[in-house]
Order: sequence, then structure tokens, then C-alpha cells
Amino acid sequence: MSNIVLFGSQWGDEGKGKIIDVLTQDADWVVRYQGGNNAGHTVEIENEKFVLHLTPSGILRKSCKCIIGNGLVVDLIGLCEELEELENRNIPLENRLYISDRAHIVLPYHKALDGAKENLRSENKIGTTKRGIGPAYCDKADRTGLRMCDILENDFLEEARKKLITKNDELQNLNQDTLNVEVLLKDIERCAEKLKPFIIDTVPLLNNAMKNNDQILFEGAQGIMLDVDFGTYPYVTSSNTGAGGVASGAGIPPQSVDRVIGIVKAYTTRVGGGPFPTELTNETGKHIAEVGAEFGATTGRPRRCGWFDAVVAKYACMIGGIGEWALMKLDVLDDLDTIRVCTAYEIDGKKVEQMPASLQNFKKCIPIYEDIPGWETPTTNCTSWDELPDKAKDYIKYLEEITLTPISIVSVGPKRASTIIRN
Ligand code: GDP
Ligand code: IMO
Ligand code: MG
Repeated sequence: MSNIVLFGSQWGDEGKGKIIDVLTQDADWVVRYQGGNNAGHTVEIENEKFVLHLTPSGILRKSCKCIIGNGLVVDLIGLCEELEELENRNIPLENRLYISDRAHIVLPYHKALDGAKENLRSENKIGTTKRGIGPAYCDKADRTGLRMCDILENDFLEEARKKLITKNDELQNLNQDTLNVEVLLKDIERCAEKLKPFIIDTVPLLNNAMKNNDQILFEGAQGIMLDVDFGTYPYVTSSNTGAGGVASGAGIPPQSVDRVIGIVKAYTTRVGGGPFPTELTNETGKHIAEVGAEFGATTGRPRRCGWFDAVVAKYACMIGGIGEWALMKLDVLDDLDTIRVCTAYEIDGKKVEQMPASLQNFKKCIPIYEDIPGWETPTTNCTSWDELPDKAKDYIKYLEEITLTPISIVSVGPKRASTIIRN
């Protein structure tokens, strides 16, 4: 028996969806514990591509059951559309998908407020996904949010109507267009009916599964550098994205986690605003973006690309208790003659090895690099460690040494087969 947490250890989009999908071969449950449909997790199976936003990636393995945990903010209409798409693609949901009755609901006014607040930031835009994540977590902390359990009450539509009216006032105060209450209530009613059968108290469900020795995967969304406490605040999302979020976001005791796998790309990407010390704004950056098809799975925005940052990786290990890495997208570096790894930063002429809290200091960080020879050989058809070029093995070993953490999974392409599991 083992319960595994997998979380993004950079700025998101590390390839979490792919690895969750690979590991679900042996899993009974996959649980999302934070975030919302700001996430876009891609899974490619044979010639089919799925992008999951709220549904755990395990939904694509029929043997697996899935939980949307209490720590999420769930877009009622967005989830309804996502489930309809899955059903249209013949993915069964009945008796396989469970939504926590404690999860908070994202309604259209959260999205409108997200967009409005973002537009009001004349400079220093966060570059949110405009999925209403910040405003929904604000309502949760403010104790004014609606939750999934409210859908099961007779007065749900009345409560939703009251909220829509209050939030229209808020939008008006921000000089924004107001929302059409009656039209939205119809959508909300239809989606609430659709979701009702999936809403349940997931806490006993999950804890019974653990007693039963079922294998459970906890699927992080976003990445540690977008964590509201540990990331590059305020250029972050609004939840705890690391392993620490699992206990509060799924309702399990912390000691029930057996393994923590950090997911990193062999380089780094970031979508949206905020400092990014190893960012490459040159031809190499463009090359990585092109070969890695680095466009957001949720918003389609181009992702900024840069070198692997070992300061970030070590920080993720320290906070998250990472015991091993899944190293993703190694194949994207196949053509490069030299690969750089940031080993520390320099701030005002001083070497710094820890992540600064202050954004002002983080903006000043100049990466100190180690240059590693590239392998200049295709890796995407490699299915075992032995088949990898020696210089690719050297790069992997270097990352293990510098982060003091073994790499147990190497991914060399988007499909299930392009995965090397090291024993
Ligand atoms: P997530 O949000 O962490 O699940 O990652 P995304 O799905 O947003 O972005 C990862 C992208 O990289 C997706 O398009 C995947 O299909 C793709 N991908 C995953 N692993 C690999 C890999 O090893 N090599 C290549 N070339 N693409 C990969
Ligand atoms: P997955 O799970 C990459 C980024 C946004 C923005 C910041 C805040 O696919 O890795 P938000 O909408 O959450 O308020 O936006 O966080 N962001 C992500 N970047 N991958 C994600 O999810 C992200 N979810 C949010 O671009 O910079
Ligand atoms: Mg993504």
C-alpha cells in the first residue's frame, strides 16, 4: 500500500497530467486537493488528447475512482461542461467521480470580478487565468462562499440569486458590466441538477479507502512557485499547491502520505506575470518554446521558457518533503549543444542559495549557471535508462546531485509509452 502525492515543483505545467495518467495503472483513486479550473492537465492516450481542468486525471483509467476534494474551488458551469465532454467521449463517470460537499463553488461573478480586478491593475498584472480563482478563495476566507452541500438544499437557487445581486453591486462599483441574474440562474439550475448525484462527504469515503489499503494518488495543480504562501507573492495563485495542501484539501491525516514525487521539467516555464530569473528571451528560449509546444493548456497563452533552476527545485524539496523527481520533457532539450542549470543566485554582488521572500529581492536575482554538455541525439523513442544517450544520463545525474534527490521517472514525450521508470 502506498499513498502518493505528486505536485508541480516549478511554476505549473510541468506535466502532472501525464505522470498521474502513467501511475494510475496501479492506483485505485486519484484525488485533487486544491485550485480550480485554472489548471489544465494534458493526457495523451494513443491518438486522443484530453485536457482536464477540474476532474482528476485518473478519470481516463476506467479502473480508477476520482475525488474532487474540499480544498478546491469548483466552477459549477465549467465542471458541468467538462463532465458533458467526458461523457461525449465515452468516459464513464457514474460510481467513479465524487465531489466533496465541502468544496466551494465558483460562479460567473467570480470570473467577472477576477477579470475586473486584473484590468484595474494598470501595471504589474498577475496574468490570472480569469477563472475566478482569487475571488472564490476570497469568499471562502470571508465566510460568504457557497459550497457544494448548498446545492442539495431547497433554497439553493434563492441563495444564488442573493449572491448574484450582491456581486452585481460590487461589479457596478468597479464600473463593470453587471450580469443577467435570470439568465444565469437558469444555467446554474441546470448545472446544479447535473452535479447533484456526484456530491458526497468525501472525507469518510477517502479514509475508508485508506483503511482498505487502496492506493491513492493526490494530484497537485499549479506549482510550488505559485503557492500562495511560498511562491513569488503576489504573482501566485490562491491556494497551497504543495504536499502541505493535501491534508487540509482532502481531509486526510498528514502521516497517511507515504511518498512525495516532485514534478519538474528539464527546463522551466512560467505563464503570466512575475519575475523568472532563468528566463530566456533569446533564440534558445524560442527554440525550447517551439519544440516543447509551450502554450497554456487552459488559456492558450505562450509560456515563458528558461533554464532549470536548482534553487527552486531545492526549495520545493525542503517545503514538500520530495523523495524523488519525475523529470519531464527531457526530449525538448535534444538539439541543444549546451544546457545551463542555475545553481544559485547573486543579489547585489552576494551569492544567495535560498529563495528570498521579498519580491524586490527576487527581481534582482541574477542566476549563477553551470554549463552541461548537450547530447544532440533524439531521446523520444527511448523506453529504458540504457537507451538514453550518455550525456543525457550525465545531465540527469547532475540534476540528482545538485538537488540531492533521485530522479525515478524520466519522460521523453507526451504519450504513456515515452516514460522511463528507473528501479
Ligand atoms: P500539467 O498542467 O502539469 O499537467 O502540464 P500541461 O498539460 O499544462 O503541460 C504539459 C505539456 O507537455 C502537455 O502538452 C503534455 O502533453 C506535454 N508533455 C508531457 N510530458 C512530456 C514530455 O516528456 N515530452 C514532451 N515533448 N511533451 C510532454
Ligand atoms: P496547472 O495545474 C501554470 C498562473 C496564472 C497566473 C497565476 C494566478 O495546469 O499547472 P490564477 O488564475 O490561479 O489566479 O492565476 O497563476 N497559473 C498557472 N500557471 N499552470 C497552471 O496550472 C496555473 N494555474 C494558474 O497564469 O500567473
Ligand atoms: Mg497545465
